[in-house]
Amino acid sequence: MSKPNVFVTRIIPGPGLELIQDAAQIQVWPEELPPPYQVLMEKIQGLDGLLCLLTDQIDRNLIQSAGDSLKVISQMAVGYDNIDIEAATEFGIPVGHTPGVLTDATADFAWALLMAAARRIVEADQYTREGRWVTWGPTLLMGADVAGATLGIVGLGRIGQAVAKRASGFDMRILYHDPQRNQDLEEELGAAYVELDVLLNQSDFISIHTPLSEETVHLFSTDQFKQMKKSAILINSARGPIVDQKALYQALKTGEIAYAALDVTDPEPIPMDDPLLALDNIIIAPHIASSSLYARTKMANMATENLLAGLRGERLPNCANPEVYE
Ligand code: GLV
Repeated sequence: MSKPNVFVTRIIPGPGLELIQDAAQIQVWPEELPPPYQVLMEKIQGLDGLLCLLTDQIDRNLIQSAGDSLKVISQMAVGYDNIDIEAATEFGIPVGHTPGVLTDATADFAWALLMAAARRIVEADQYTREGRWVTWGPTLLMGADVAGATLGIVGLGRIGQAVAKRASGFDMRILYHDPQRNQDLEEELGAAYVELDVLLNQSDFISIHTPLSEETVHLFSTDQFKQMKKSAILINSARGPIVDQKALYQALKTGEIAYAALDVTDPEPIPMDDPLLALDNIIIAPHIASSSLYARTKMANMATENLLAGLRGERLPNCANPEVYE
């Protein structure tokens, strides 16, 4: 029997590619940049399995063009807003993703952004390298206090909870907002449920951990920034479009809020002429929150397991659209 055809949209870490090679006829996109949409369109014809990344646009048109052969789409990420899940389900295609294994890495990075913004680490490093350190100054690069401050967590899923655990070590008051209130967690994490406007009003730090959906696009825009403290620091390690970047620029420029630290932007990568890059009160990282050795290797392994299960016609161990099996 001939082996199934698989396309992998980038070189992934760990043993995944070899394992796939044992079971399938594999093509791997070898470039640093993702395959253009047109290439995906060509590759998808007659394909049995696709292993993709969040940089690949897997829309209805593409899924529809795959034909009957496509048995599985396996994404190496926990978020899957780049995939038209409804269309995949409609065409009976299970979509794999990689929850859990990147929780700590992502929470660590959100925490690193929070600390770096509060204590102006990036500015401080630049200051030193530019030879501007001439003495110990009483107010030199004075930052915000983390210990004892109020943290607002928007989205208390796995990553939001892991951030709350880190915050309790800093004796922070923890507020959260989530469409689903979870009273058991409130006790365990010492977190209080509040409406979004209360969270905006009262938090010194706000960290975003909600998925991107129609409801969360531009959840943070002019009105929300106006409700925040002038000293507030915003952290986004979730998805770029949750924050209205034009409004964020205005808020940072006019002092409506104090600082922002982003691991995600809209679009990605952020264009070099984006005005945000000219501001001093922002840190921007290139979407690397899950990029620790353990997390990225595990993500690649999970994506491989999901892909191979799908090729064998088995239920995916981590499926984003379990309704496909109903
Ligand atoms: C990373 O952003 C992911 O969704 O895994």
